[in-house]
Amino acid sequence: MNGYLSDELAWTTMREQRELAQVTHRDGARASSQAVAKPRANPGAVVSVRELRKTYAGGVEALKGVSFEVREGEIFGMLGPNGAGKTTTIGILTTTVRPSSGAAIVAGHDVTREPLAVRQAIGVTFQESVLDNDFSGIDNLRLHARLWRMSPREAEERITSLLEVMELSDRGRDGVRTYSGGMRRRLEIARALLAKPSVLFLDEPTVGLDPAVRNGIWELIQRLRRAEGATIVLSTHYLEEAENVCDRVAIIHHGNIVALDSPGALLLSLGVEVLEINVDGEAERASRLVSGLRLSQSEPLVVGNSVSVALADGQGQSARLVETVREAGVEVAGVTVRRSTLNDVFLHLTGTKANQNGA
Ligand SMILES: Nc1ncnc2c1ncn2[C@@H]1O[C@H](COP(=O)(O)OP(=O)(O)OP(=O)(O)O)[C@@H](O)[C@H]1O
Ligand SMILES: [Mg+2]
Repeated sequence: MNGYLSDELAWTTMREQRELAQVTHRDGARASSQAVAKPRANPGAVVSVRELRKTYAGGVEALKGVSFEVREGEIFGMLGPNGAGKTTTIGILTTTVRPSSGAAIVAGHDVTREPLAVRQAIGVTFQESVLDNDFSGIDNLRLHARLWRMSPREAEERITSLLEVMELSDRGRDGVRTYSGGMRRRLEIARALLAKPSVLFLDEPTVGLDPAVRNGIWELIQRLRRAEGATIVLSTHYLEEAENVCDRVAIIHHGNIVALDSPGALLLSLGVEVLEINVDGEAERASRLVSGLRLSQSEPLVVGNSVSVALADGQGQSARLVETVREAGVEVAGVTVRRSTLNDVFLHLTGTKANQNGA
């Protein structure tokens, strides 16, 4: 399941089924018997998060005051390494994790005061699979449709069309046990989309898949935004892959947002090219020499025998940098200029690689 069973509410527990049975269907009046103050969020913001904090029972501070907004129709990425706080944020926004403090409004509803109304407005796929292996793909979707109290006719129509979008039509009757990782992930996205959510949360939609299959899922996510018109909030630790898919990204590190903007703006603010100088020892001295020329917005980074620096014009500026290092007597073993990525942005902001464990 989603890893929160001991501490938090689970999404597909009997309790949820009972709760869902008590609320009016999503086409009817919204579920909300509580008297709730009108939530405040900017018009156009589908998700609005203010100063969100979460400290787990064991004392781990997973979120240390996170604020952001997601606009309608946007693909919004939460990017960061293992343990950054991505799943915790998605857990709070999808009402499976209780925040310690702060506020979050999703589709006009407060996550702590109106969790059922939030659940009715959203779809979610978890980092770990929640599919029933003993059932076929179609039966997994039917089960979910029943839980959401869709009429059988509406459910069948929706299932047929979603299987087609997910390119699973010819495998729908097969047991999920026989599916590949990519097929399972596509079926889970279909399941999340069944009840036509206005916001779709995808926690690590490509984790554990090989690169070609990951690309397929990213393309699918882009197609979905067009086909379904949903706002999509996703998390990933593949920063460079999210670059081409997300309209805006929040880069999360140790429970804080360290940058939030469009990928293009973040790359521009760092420098669109990265110069890597491989030296034969004396990397720290080479770094000081590079820094002294003040050609970069950020400080150079030293990783082993390599010094990297982000530049606005790598091709144009690299010769002067390399010459300075050589003239000072540092032996240069190799020089590379490449386009910068969101990984570089992360690295320069935090000094840690995003796709390494244990940030
Ligand atoms: N149920 C829990 N109880 C205690 N600590 C938890 C729990 N869930 C997460 N944590 C801790 O909170 C921090 C943030 O975890 P979270 O799962 O939100 O990170 P993440 O960014 O999703 O990481 P990953 O990329 O590994 O999925 C980590 O230190 C994690 O160990
Ligand atoms: Mg996670």
